[in-house]
Amino acid sequence: MNLKSLPKIELHLHLEGAAPANFIKNLATQKHIDVSKIFNQLGQYQFDNFKHFLSVYEAATTVLQSPDDFYKLTKCVLEECAKNHVVYVETFVSPEFCGGNDIVSWKEYLSAICEASEESEASFGIISRGIATCIRHLGPNSAKDTAKCAVETGGEWLVGFGMAGDETFGQAKDYVYSFDLAREAGLKLTSHAGEWGGSESVRSTVNQLGVQRVGHGVQSINDDELIQSLIEQQIVLEVCPGSNVFLGLYPDLQSHPIKTLRDRGVMVTVSTDDPPFFQTSMDQEYESLASCFGWSEDDFLELNRVALDAAFCDKKTKEKIAKMFKF
Ligand code: ADE
Ligand code: ZN
Repeated sequence: MNLKSLPKIELHLHLEGAAPANFIKNLATQKHIDVSKIFNQLGQYQFDNFKHFLSVYEAATTVLQSPDDFYKLTKCVLEECAKNHVVYVETFVSPEFCGGNDIVSWKEYLSAICEASEESEASFGIISRGIATCIRHLGPNSAKDTAKCAVETGGEWLVGFGMAGDETFGQAKDYVYSFDLAREAGLKLTSHAGEWGGSESVRSTVNQLGVQRVGHGVQSINDDELIQSLIEQQIVLEVCPGSNVFLGLYPDLQSHPIKTLRDRGVMVTVSTDDPPFFQTSMDQEYESLASCFGWSEDDFLELNRVALDAAFCDKKTKEKIAKMFKF
């Protein structure tokens, strides 16, 4: 089976987290910013654990300082996605890193990102949409500002609101206001949960924030009642196996719960999260899953069908993507 040529849908990709190490290094050199400590001798991002990863991630974003930087980043990231035969991708982008949650600045950044998205669709055939993402450990007030940015700019490209960052900070209920604001404006919702926070974190995220999808959600595996309710409520998990293994959540792919969750009837999808940080790609993820779990082309087709149903874009766009799969 040639998995490489299979079309793919990716629902969980952080735009800043998809910045290749060299992209960040070159920008840093141009701007005379010293970020050398975030790279190892091979020139890769280096970190020891999840919290360290978050600080390296934030250090990398400090060199992304203008709409033009985000324009170039978006083009670079989408070209790489297209090389992996990704035909549709939803990228998380944080207004916090695009002018500090200021609405006027955010609009300028967003316009540059949208321009890059349109150009990439024309040149590489890849369709992309965005999810404005608040950063949990920056607290509920910052999340409200992000939600306001999202609400002001929701539309054809910006289709969702989400939350990333340190899941052990605060509680889901602290962010209800922001998610309510985004929902009332017609945005679709997702939040990271059940990566580091246990099944209780998934339960409160689903019940209190009213999300349609959960980023990771893999800790649900320890909670039969939760699994049943995810199935009943048709909540989709954005699973990122390579990310979970690289960050040490599971010792290897064999121990990862994606197969068990899927076999039990939970709707799962496959994404990379932050590919250069975790030294992965969509091609790599598919190949690893195929060799570890024996998944066939039909299994991947079914995963993509789930992803298409769960995508936040409009019906017309979904019909266009469906044609690329011959669904
Ligand atoms: N931001 C980027 N990647 C993340 C992850 N895996 N978990 C939480 N926040 C993130
Ligand atoms: Zn993520």
